[in-house]
Amino acid sequence: MSQSASIEWWNKSLDEVGIHSMDKLVAADDAWSSVLQSGRDDLARAITITGMKCGKDRTAVEVGCGLGRMSTALADQFGEVVGIDIAPRLIEEARRRNELSNVSFEVADGIHLRPASIEQCDTLFSYEVFYYIDKPALTTYFQDAFALLRSGGEFVFQLNLEPVRRKTRLSFLLRRMLYACGIKQWRGWPTGAGYRRYYHSPDWLRNTLTRIGFRVDKITGPTARQTWIIASRP
Ligand SMILES: C[S@@+](CC[C@H](N)C(=O)[O-])C[C@H]1O[C@@H](n2cnc3c(N)ncnc32)[C@H](O)[C@@H]1O
Repeated sequence: MSQSASIEWWNKSLDEVGIHSMDKLVAADDAWSSVLQSGRDDLARAITITGMKCGKDRTAVEVGCGLGRMSTALADQFGEVVGIDIAPRLIEEARRRNELSNVSFEVADGIHLRPASIEQCDTLFSYEVFYYIDKPALTTYFQDAFALLRSGGEFVFQLNLEPVRRKTRLSFLLRRMLYACGIKQWRGWPTGAGYRRYYHSPDWLRNTLTRIGFRVDKITGPTARQTWIIASRP
């Protein structure tokens, strides 16, 4: 599946499956206040697991912000937050739903992490995004992440590191077929192209980040599905 098919699907995701596309625990008919609370709960867990630095003197960028669920939670902890996403439709909706003065949203091109509104940040954060991106594209993101972070800045992101087994591949195929037949969800998950998952091993992540110049501080998580990577720019 090409990157453009994924971008195209994410852009339609809101109309096809509603806010449920943002997180498995967000139901399509959840109130916006519940969605924001789920973001705060996820961020509180992330802070506990990663020990990431927060503070009103820090600027954070969230990659793959979608509707701004996590960006809004980050705004409680950081002075300024910029959420970026490849889907213009989601960014438009994020801007409409969020009114905090210290959060802004930008459309990204899916190739580079170069927000127009800031040159550098202290924290680059991402949740439930990077396992939808293949290795070449993710490597470019990591290079840009290094350039975007100030010296001492932190790159904090979560990935599903469960191996992609034969059964998982078969389910990708089945989902594509269901989608082609007009079935937009199966077993509680969207069947659209954006949900195609890539496996990135801890060794590949560590080696790629280190080669770029990061210091990998931790690869940790309560489960493989919720693995967190914390890397710093020396
Ligand atoms: C499962 S949603 C998570 C949204 C948000 N992080 C949250 O937890 O509420 C995945 C998001 O990643 C975005 N995305 C997918 N591929 C991307 C890419 N290559 N670059 C940036 N964002 C991407 C999608 O548009 C979507 O908004």
